[in-house]
Amino acid sequence: MQDKQTPSRVTGASSGNGRAIATSFADEGAAVVCADLIEKPRDEGYEDQIDTATHELIEERGGDAVFAECDVTDREQVRSVIDAAVEEFGHLDIVVNNAGIFTRYVDITETTHEEWDQTIGVNLTGVWNGTKEGVEQMIEQGHGGRVINVASVGGLVGLENEPAYSASKGGVVNFTRAAALDCAEHEINVNAVCPGWISTAMTREYLEDQEFMAELEDATPWPRLGEPDDVADACTFLAGPRAEWITGHSLAVDGGYTAQ
Ligand SMILES: NC(=O)c1ccc[n+]([C@@H]2O[C@H](COP(=O)([O-])OP(=O)(O)OC[C@H]3O[C@@H](n4cnc5c(N)ncnc54)[C@H](O)[C@@H]3O)[C@@H](O)[C@H]2O)c1
Repeated sequence: MQDKQTPSRVTGASSGNGRAIATSFADEGAAVVCADLIEKPRDEGYEDQIDTATHELIEERGGDAVFAECDVTDREQVRSVIDAAVEEFGHLDIVVNNAGIFTRYVDITETTHEEWDQTIGVNLTGVWNGTKEGVEQMIEQGHGGRVINVASVGGLVGLENEPAYSASKGGVVNFTRAAALDCAEHEINVNAVCPGWISTAMTREYLEDQEFMAELEDATPWPRLGEPDDVADACTFLAGPRAEWITGHSLAVDGGYTAQ
C-alpha cells in the first residue's frame, strides 16, 4: 500500500477475485470501499464464510471497510461511490476496476448482440467509468494514486468461444496503456492484471466439467490452476511502494498460459 490507511475502492468486491483483493488490501492496512451490485458473495462461489459480506469479513479481521452498492455500467453511481469514499475516508488513493462478467462459452455465431453489449458494458465501459472518475478525483487531490484494472489472459490472446469477453479484455489492456500515458504527469499509475482460469463463481460450472478441466490443466504449464489470492497478490504488489515506476503494464497471472 502507499501508506497505512490508504483509502481504496474495489469493484466486484463481494465475490471471487474482488473479495480476495479487498481483504488483501485491508490486511496491508488500507481502508476499503467494497463496491458491488450485491452485498454477499455469489452463491456459486468457493468463498469461506460465504454468508459474510466482504466488508464484514474485513471488519472481523480488524480492518476498516464499507459496502457501497454500485453498478459499474452506470457513471452516476460510480461517481457517487467515489464521493461517498472521499466523504468516509477523506481521500481516495487506489481504484481497482475488477467487476466483470462472462456470459456463455459459445462461438461468434451463437453469441448474441445482447451478450456482446452486456459484456462490453460491464467489462470495458465499467473500467472506463471507474478509471475516469477515479483519476479525476486523484488529480483534484494532487498527490498521485494507483489504478489497477482486472483484465484477463483473454486480453492478451484471443480465446476460442469467448469473442465478446476477449474483445472487452483486449480493450481493457490497451485502455490501460493509453490511460497510463495521460496520467503519468500526475504520478498516477495505471496497470492491469491478466488472470488465467481462477476458481470463482464465474468459472465454477466449467471447472466442474472434468473434460474441460483436463483441457485447462493441459493448457496451463504450472501444476495447478489459479486462486483468487494469486490475483490479489499481484494487485497488492501493483498498489504498493515497490511498483512506483511501473505503469501501462499488463501483468499476466496465469501459471504460464500466455508464455507458450
Ligand atoms: N475467474 C477467472 O477465471 C477469471 C479469469 C480472468 C479474469 N477474471 C476477471 O476477474 C474479475 C472478477 O471475476 P471473478 O472470477 O471474481 O467473478 P465473480 O463472478 O466471482 O465476481 C464478480 C463480482 O462482480 C460483481 N459484478 C458483476 N457485474 C457488476 C456490475 N455491473 N457492477 C458491479 N459489480 C458487478 C458480481 O456481483 C460479483 O460479486 C472479472 O473482471 C473477471 O473477468 C476472472
